[in-house]
Amino acid sequence: MDFDMLRKAAIAARNIAYAPYSHFRVGAALLADDGRIYSGCNIENASYGATLCAERTAIAKAVSEGARRILAVAVIGDSEGETAPCGICRQVIAEFAELDTPILCGDREGDFTTHTLGELLPFAFTPADLA
Ligand code: THU
Repeated sequence: MDFDMLRKAAIAARNIAYAPYSHFRVGAALLADDGRIYSGCNIENASYGATLCAERTAIAKAVSEGARRILAVAVIGDSEGETAPCGICRQVIAEFAELDTPILCGDREGDFTTHTLGELLPFAFTPADLA
């Protein structure tokens, strides 16, 4: 599958990031099982601790619209090297994705490297552990 639209949606979301404190903009986009692409940006807060990562913004939008499975994720930040999801976001992605789900991590210039969720979150605790 060509993830060009997913990458473009992540870049577009980065452009509208709300990051007045860190000035580190992040955009994320996910392809959901309903066929739609949901995007999100980081949403910072004066308290700092209430900051929401771009990935979890996108996941909240998708799940609250009825989507339940994540088929792929793209994330891009302002780093020279690729930006990968933080630990909390990896765990939240794992709730709705498979260990072989592709996670496309972009660098500042828009070049993406693909990893699987299992590579980013080895020995994951997932919903399957509760079954
Ligand atoms: N950030 C994300 O949006 N996603 C990540 O996976 C890494 C960190 C945001 C949070 C904060 O607004 C800024 O990047 C700096 O940490």
